[in-house]
Amino acid sequence: MLDSVSLSFHLADNSLCMICNFGRQDLQDLVAIEAQLSSSPWTLQNFEGSVNSSHVCVGVKCSGKNLTQDSPWIAYAVFSLVADEAELLLLGVDKHYQGRGIAKALLQNMETLLMDYADEMFLEVRASNEVAIGLYDGLGFNCVGERRNYYPSSNGSGGREDALIYGKNISGKLCL
Ligand SMILES: CC(C)(COP(=O)(O)OP(=O)(O)OC[C@H]1O[C@@H](n2cnc3c(N)ncnc32)[C@H](O)[C@@H]1OP(=O)(O)O)[C@@H](O)C(=O)NCCC(=O)NCCS
Repeated sequence: MLDSVSLSFHLADNSLCMICNFGRQDLQDLVAIEAQLSSSPWTLQNFEGSVNSSHVCVGVKCSGKNLTQDSPWIAYAVFSLVADEAELLLLGVDKHYQGRGIAKALLQNMETLLMDYADEMFLEVRASNEVAIGLYDGLGFNCVGERRNYYPSSNGSGGREDALIYGKNISGKLCL
């Protein structure tokens, strides 16, 4: 199985970024970022559950000049790997670093890594999350289904919102 992740990429402004596993010691920092990104954020317990399971838990650190293990986390993603299928369970980029291509690079790099372990990747996204949908469209994901009224509405109305299910063949095999 996939034990440890260590990848790197450059942003358009030439900043060097690294993707590596996060662990228990990192969770307070990640929970703080997550709390600012979602109307129903993952809790410390949710993160702990993933870190303590077989989920692939990765984060991103970037720096214009000095990139070290002590640089702050600015993005994270959690994947499950079950029976030739990868599922993106969580994705977030710190508000201060959004719009710089970090999510795109993170997913592209993880897709390349996970294609040795899975044939397809799936994810669920709120129907109203236009930014994330633009990201997934741009990466070649297709909408393959929906779950009606799946999420509590994020606009505080007390209503419900549909989830869209996106999928992508990541094996490199042709789909006939
Ligand atoms: C969705 C999210 C992860 C994108 O992260 P990001 O690093 O800002 O995204 P990127 O800079 O890599 O942009 C990738 C694509 O997203 C889309 N996008 C990014 N910012 C956008 C914006 N402000 N408006 C519209 N589309 C946008 C574009 O399609 C972009 O591709 P392009 O640059 O080739 O046009 C980030 O906004 C986030 O953390 N949102 C809150 C949590 C969330 O929604 N997670 C996903 C749940 S399914």
